[in-house]
Amino acid sequence: MKLLVTVLALVVQVFSLENGLMRTPPMGWLAWERYRCNIDCKEDPDNCISERLFMDVADRLAEDGWRDLGYNYINIDDCWMTPERDENGLLVADPERFPHGIKYLADYVHSRGLKLGIYGDMGNRTCMGYPGTTLDKVVLDAQTFASWDVDMLKLDSCYSNPEDRAQGYPSMSKALNATGRPIAYSCSWPAYDGGLPPEVNYTLLMDICNLWRNYDDIQDSWQSVLTIVDWFTKHQEVLQPVAGPGHWNDPDMLLIGNYGLSFEQAKSQMALWTIFAAPLFMSTDLRTISAQNADILQNKLMIEINQDPLGIQGRKILRTEDAIEVYVRPLSRKASAIVFFSRRTDMPYRYHTTLRSLNFTDSPLYEAQDVYTENVVSGLTVDTKFTVVINPSGVVMWYLYPISGLENPLASKKFLRL
Ligand code: GLA
Repeated sequence: MKLLVTVLALVVQVFSLENGLMRTPPMGWLAWERYRCNIDCKEDPDNCISERLFMDVADRLAEDGWRDLGYNYINIDDCWMTPERDENGLLVADPERFPHGIKYLADYVHSRGLKLGIYGDMGNRTCMGYPGTTLDKVVLDAQTFASWDVDMLKLDSCYSNPEDRAQGYPSMSKALNATGRPIAYSCSWPAYDGGLPPEVNYTLLMDICNLWRNYDDIQDSWQSVLTIVDWFTKHQEVLQPVAGPGHWNDPDMLLIGNYGLSFEQAKSQMALWTIFAAPLFMSTDLRTISAQNADILQNKLMIEINQDPLGIQGRKILRTEDAIEVYVRPLSRKASAIVFFSRRTDMPYRYHTTLRSLNFTDSPLYEAQDVYTENVVSGLTVDTKFTVVINPSGVVMWYLYPISGLENPLASKKFLRL
C-alpha cells in the first residue's frame, strides 16, 4: 500500500506542475511593453534588447529598493535569439547583443539576488520571427534553459495551431519539471484560444502553468487598460475561481512610468491589478522613472495586498448609473481591499455609500486605511454613511478590516506598518 501511494505520488508529480513556485503573484520586470523588438544597438544602445539593458535593469532592481519590495524577476521577452538555431539545433542568444550568452546574464542576475526569465514560442516562429519551439524541440529547449540557470519561461504561441498547443504546453511543463531546476512557467496558451471555455481548459492550466496570459497584449494607452479590465470583469465568473497560489491569471504588464497613462490612470492600473491578484511585471525604464511613478509601484500596503497569502482574486461587485464601479478582494485576517473606480470624464465625483451596500455585514465595527493617502477612517459600522471622492479615471482604494468591540484599534494598525 505504501509503495502504491509513493508510486501514485510520483505519477502526480510527473503530470502536474507542482513546482512550489509563485505561491503569491510574481513580481518583477518584463522587457516587452516598453522595449519591444528594438535590436538596433548602434542607433539606440541604451534601449536595445541586449545584455547591457538587462544588466542595467538588474542593477536598478537591486539598488533602488525594488527587489526588497518583492520585484525579483527580470524577464527577457522576444528578440534575444539569433535568426536560426545552431548546427546542433540549439537556441542561441544573439552574439552581438548578448556577447557573454544567457548563462552569464543569469549568473549576474543571481549575484544581484534576482531571478532571470526567458521567452520562447510554442510554434514555428516567435511573434517577431525568431526560431520557435516546435514539438520535437520541447525537451531540448527546456534542457537548454535549465543549463543556463534560467528561473522562468514565458512560452508564447505565434505560428502554431490548436492541436500543437494542446500537446506542446503540457509537454513543456513536463520537460521543465524533468530538468530538476525550478523554472516558473508562464503560458500564453489561453490568449491564443480565445481565453474562455470550452476552448480553454483552465483546470488543466492550473496544473501545468504558474500563470497564463488570457487575453490581448497591453499597449501604452488608457484605452488598452480599460479594454483589458472590461474583458476580465465580463468573464470574472470563469476567471476568478481559477486563480490561486501557484496559478494566476495574467492581464499583462504594468504601464506605469511610460507614456500612455495620466497619474490617476497609473494609480488605477496598479489598484485594479492588485484587486485581480495579478502578476506585477513592470515594463518601464527604471533608470529614469519619476519619483511619483516609483511611489505608485513601491506602495508597501498595495504590495502587501497584492501578495496576500490567500491568493484570492477579487471581483467587480457593482457599477452605478453614474459610472462608478466597486471592486472587492477578500484578504487574510478577514480584511478586504476595496477599489472605488470612476469611469467618469468630468470632475471628482462624490460617491456616497455604506458598507452594508457593499455586502460587508459581518462585524459591528470596521476601520479602513486609504492605500494611497494612508488616511485611516475609523468607527465605521455597516450603516455608517460615508463619502469617497474619486477623480476622473481614478480610484480610491481602501484596506478594510474588522475591529472587534474590545480591541484597541491601534493594535491592528500596527500590522499595516511593514
Ligand atoms: C506576443 C505576446 C507579447 C510579446 C510579443 C513578442 O504578442 O503576447 O507579450 O511577447 O508576442 O513578440
